[in-house]
Amino acid sequence: MNTATQLPAGQVPGKQVRRFADRWARPGHLRTHHLAVSKGDRSLPIVYGRMHEARGSSERATTPAPMIALSDVHKVFRQGEAEVRALAGVSLEVAAGEFVAIRGPSGSGKSTLLHLIGGLDVPSAGDIRIDGALLSRLTDDELTVFRRRKIGFVFQFFNLLPTLSAEENVALPLLLDGVRARDARPRALAALEQVGLAHRRRHRPDELSGGEMQRAAVARALVIEPRLILADEPTGNLDTTTGEQILALIRRANAERGCTVVLVTHDPRAATYGTRVITLNDGVVVGTTAA
Ligand SMILES: Nc1ncnc2c1ncn2[C@@H]1O[C@H](COP(=O)(O)OP(=O)(O)OP(=O)(O)O)[C@@H](O)[C@H]1O
Ligand SMILES: [Mg+2]
Repeated sequence: MNTATQLPAGQVPGKQVRRFADRWARPGHLRTHHLAVSKGDRSLPIVYGRMHEARGSSERATTPAPMIALSDVHKVFRQGEAEVRALAGVSLEVAAGEFVAIRGPSGSGKSTLLHLIGGLDVPSAGDIRIDGALLSRLTDDELTVFRRRKIGFVFQFFNLLPTLSAEENVALPLLLDGVRARDARPRALAALEQVGLAHRRRHRPDELSGGEMQRAAVARALVIEPRLILADEPTGNLDTTTGEQILALIRRANAERGCTVVLVTHDPRAATYGTRVITLNDGVVVGTTAA
């Protein structure tokens, strides 16, 4: 282990966190990392005020708003003169506590859909509500807090920070959210224990195997106890056993805590994972299995 880059035990990697956080807050980095914060990060009461307001009426209390509601969502990427229509009118709802698998051929818009649901990118047209909040109404700062508090992202390429240990990586979302280091560390360790990685807590990402990195990324997503997990082919590069371990962890969060899950997968066994399989093709929903 390279101790030169190791942070002293029990110490908040404050400067480092802020430096990374500032970097992630730049628009170009938002797509690839959910831990972004920006400077005026004090807007939480507004965010939550709106969310509660959105769910506040007695009628809604008996019929709770879906966790995810997309209405005629389009996404067009422009590259010079060319246009790529990644999503061409997607409407769907996912109830709180559901486990939905998204399938579809390469280029069909699965990752784009997940990025939009997670507020990492904005639609060209259409509305997206998450837990009652209309994402287009949130400011950048509100979106940042929303992502950090509510959503656990598990992407194929982990996005672990190379200079931090596994434990520090997992603690990071808590530290960014203002949790004190002495409280964040035991929670990070508990999350690492859940994924069977406590013994690797001091290893940096380049000292972990691919499967271990992926499990650390899952621990980082779970440590905030998110209401929603968005996972983009989280088992893509893994052997069958490790892949099944990752899936089991996500399923457990769904079964035990009622965490809503949207999982993009190429796995033909997707239908056995959750309540529904939604199939995309050319940017539109072409099939949904019954719940
Ligand atoms: N930032 C971008 N700029 C331009 N085009 C993009 C961008 N991101 C995605 N696309 C295009 O949008 C379409 C949908 O891409 P997306 O990544 O959502 O597909 P996918 O279903 O996740 O595919 P895969 O299974 O290969 O991951 C593709 O044609 C892709 O080339
Ligand atoms: Mg993809």
